[in-house]
Amino acid sequence: MNNRPVSAGFESLRAVEIVGRETEQAQIGAFVDAGADGVRALVIRGDPGIGKTTLWQEAVQACRRAGYEVLVTRPAEEELSLALAGLVDLFEHHASDVPVLQAQADPLVRGRALLAALRLIAESRPVLVAVDDLQWLDSASARALRYALRRLDTEPVSVLATTRLGSTPEDPLTMADLLPPGRFDAIDLGPLSLADLRRVVGRIVATISPRTLRRIQDVSGGNPLFALELARSLGGDDGGASSPGGLRLPDSMQAAILRRLESVPVDLVALLETASALARTSVGELRETLPDVDVDALLTLAGRHGLLVVDEELEVRFSHPIIGSVVYGRMSPLARRALHARLARRAADPDLRAHHLALCTDEPDDEVADLLAQAAQRASDRGAVGLAAEFAEHSVRLTPPDDADAARRHALHHIGYLTAAGEPVRALGLADRLVARLPPGPGRAEALVQRAQLEDDDLETGEALLVRALQDAGADAPLRGRVLDQLGWLRGIFRGDLMAGIECAREALAVADAVGDPEFQMSAAAGLSNMETLAGMPRPELMAKAVALEDEIGRPPLWSGPRVLLGEQRLWAGDLPGARALLEAAVADAASRNHERWLPYSLYDLASVESAAGNLVKADGLLRQALELARDCEDAHVESWIFYRHALAATWLGRAEEARAAAKRRLDAGTRRGERPGIARARSVLGLLALSEGDTATAARELGESVRLLDEMGFAHPGAIPALPDAIEAFALTGEGDAARELLEQLGGQAARAGSAWALAALDRAHGVVAFAQGQTDAAVASLRAAASAFAGLGFRPDAARAVLIEGRALLRAGQRTAAADALAVARDAFAAMGAALWEARAAEELDRAAPGRAAGALTPAESRIAALVARGAKNREIAQALFMSVATVEAHLTRIYRKLDIRSRSELTRLITDGSVVLSGRPLPDGDAPAPSQNV
Ligand SMILES: Nc1ncnc2c1ncn2[C@@H]1O[C@H](COP(=O)(O)OP(=O)(O)O)[C@@H](O)[C@H]1O
Ligand SMILES: [Mg+2]
Repeated sequence: MNNRPVSAGFESLRAVEIVGRETEQAQIGAFVDAGADGVRALVIRGDPGIGKTTLWQEAVQACRRAGYEVLVTRPAEEELSLALAGLVDLFEHHASDVPVLQAQADPLVRGRALLAALRLIAESRPVLVAVDDLQWLDSASARALRYALRRLDTEPVSVLATTRLGSTPEDPLTMADLLPPGRFDAIDLGPLSLADLRRVVGRIVATISPRTLRRIQDVSGGNPLFALELARSLGGDDGGASSPGGLRLPDSMQAAILRRLESVPVDLVALLETASALARTSVGELRETLPDVDVDALLTLAGRHGLLVVDEELEVRFSHPIIGSVVYGRMSPLARRALHARLARRAADPDLRAHHLALCTDEPDDEVADLLAQAAQRASDRGAVGLAAEFAEHSVRLTPPDDADAARRHALHHIGYLTAAGEPVRALGLADRLVARLPPGPGRAEALVQRAQLEDDDLETGEALLVRALQDAGADAPLRGRVLDQLGWLRGIFRGDLMAGIECAREALAVADAVGDPEFQMSAAAGLSNMETLAGMPRPELMAKAVALEDEIGRPPLWSGPRVLLGEQRLWAGDLPGARALLEAAVADAASRNHERWLPYSLYDLASVESAAGNLVKADGLLRQALELARDCEDAHVESWIFYRHALAATWLGRAEEARAAAKRRLDAGTRRGERPGIARARSVLGLLALSEGDTATAARELGESVRLLDEMGFAHPGAIPALPDAIEAFALTGEGDAARELLEQLGGQAARAGSAWALAALDRAHGVVAFAQGQTDAAVASLRAAASAFAGLGFRPDAARAVLIEGRALLRAGQRTAAADALAVARDAFAAMGAALWEARAAEELDRAAPGRAAGALTPAESRIAALVARGAKNREIAQALFMSVATVEAHLTRIYRKLDIRSRSELTRLITDGSVVLSGRPLPDGDAPAPSQNV
């Protein structure tokens, strides 16, 4: 009906002239000028009405003038129509750049698309992402932006946002944590001065007495919006200033707005109320919703009263969101419901309709409750879990009390969404109440299972809940089996009570086989195989069964699947190529299918393989990738698991402090959750770190504790958490021979049962170390050589090098100085080649004892360049020419080199360099620089 063009005269977003705020404006100016300096953010914080949006708008204009591509969103408090409202706004004019905006896409896929879009735009010009009222940004948009911000670095992308001080969350983008150091800045807006307030209220009143102005300042606390509302309530002149009792002013912003609303024309009320219930709306929508009134005329009137504004896109919003919430709040409950009922009838979007339906009734209604449950599911599928929780809460509220089954289902979903939305405390409270309310039986068992999943950080309580669920499951065999399966993983793998875990898993597998549910069979078989293998009695046939099921039905959605576990088992057994093949395939599979939730697990395990193979830098890179992904998935558990491997890689690479910090985080998480295997892992890596630092006493303490814990838990596979061989080494080297021998015997038994080539090699090395500590050098050397060649044959290079290192020490003790020096040089070079800095230092120390000077072969860069040319057969004159120095200087350098390396001739130097005993520092000369030896200059 209403195709009139928009008449001019709406109160538009005319920029007001900014009063005061000189420092802040200068800071913003600097921010605008630094447009191409890589990713950064500026957040303007303060109370409602203090002037954030005013400054933000000015800055957005300045960026436009400076040639930025400006992407804007101004979320409203009740952002309902679209769960991705923020991103949709930002990319309004770039919709084709972000193809997954509307789709029910995986949050990570959306994050990637957003990142690609930002990078694409940033290639041609600086980008500004401008968010007004960041605290209301919808969670799905926030998540995608977090994904992108984590990865942006040198790209010219700036974020400029306003946020309310003290709102939760103040910054859903957590930019202070996400951005590189030094790229985040905030402006906190305080009150305006009296003089500045005077100029602000000058927009409303031409004259004002100093006394009234001071009253306004007192009451408003220097808040310009409040001051403006107070000035408006004076009625356009300096009303009560001259009255005897002075001025009676409303004492809160809400009260001031309320008082003013009383005096607006009654015709406006319906329009204002409709706008307040729609949160964000447009001229067109208002025309449709209010067909009987002249919306355009009313909008103009509302604009003149400073209540509504219409922007260039014909979107309508309150001049300040607080006014909208006051309008909404002052409606009677009945009027509010009638309004929502009307809006529900008109709403085309099913989510919007569900929202208005929820707000128009208090009467339980199974149809409405179901509609809301569906809306919740849709929102959750889009990753809008906060909105899902809201819908679900309404669906719970509106479920008829006599429909116990629906009530339970809706409540369980509500709890799940709240958990996903990061409100575990509320979720927990609701789950407790639900469990308390339900009668015993399978229904309560399901609630207990969900309640147990919430008890993520306290495995003991989680276990107790699952035990209750088991009782409640009663004769419901499939349910009982699934509870047992979960209980088995929890007890065995997470709590580390292997025997109890195995018992549950056996029963679960029996039920799964009887029920014939393949997915459940796969989980039970994999779990049982894993636990029995950890207990030192591998069950490969069970894992083969699980893998065959995986091939049949595909990878399970909630865990990494049997193939990854099989890869782990291969690693424990010493089969590096087998483990690598499985895990590389798992990584490739997860990556190609964009299942980034699986990827951290597979990457974690692949890193273990590379680390064992001595590809330390590669392992380190994989772990970084895994950690980043764990953060994207916002999965704290997998993150805390990765810390163990991260600590191990850092230990090997000699980054001791980083290793200790990561191990400590693993230790703390394990202790907090009662996750004993995590504690044993963390202690084993702390022990290895001490061992590689030469601190055998600390190593013995940490590794001894780790081994004790492993025994207590029933872990008896030396390859799974490889603490036992290291503990033997630490005890032997620190002089606790009895303890070392006792553990050696234990290792012998475990290695025989585990069927692991790695464990057998580790047993050889342990024998060698113990023999060495007892002074039986011949036996030591024999065992250590066997160990080194077994490890090398398997491809475990760090382990092999460690065996050679001890072999060198044994030879030295046996008085075979040259052979010792040769072995130690081999160990040192092997460690150096892998980047195992601490072990390299250990080996160099020993080498120095065996052949003083040979280890100190660390030549300066200048000496290295000369030595390299000597090794290629160049003469002193040729070297002098190539390096632009005099022959005398070359000779002086050579003298120093000989002294350092304790040698006397060019041929000795050449031999030390070619066999790697001397590591040259500095950049090697490219081949072309070297004079050819034959060329007789
Ligand atoms: N420095 C200023 N100069 C002029 N007017 C201001 C200033 N700061 C705030 N105002 C006015 O106060 C009101 C509230 O400001 P606004 O920026 O919307 O606050 P916020 O975004 O912090 O809630 C607006 O009408 C705005 O024009
Ligand atoms: Mg604002």
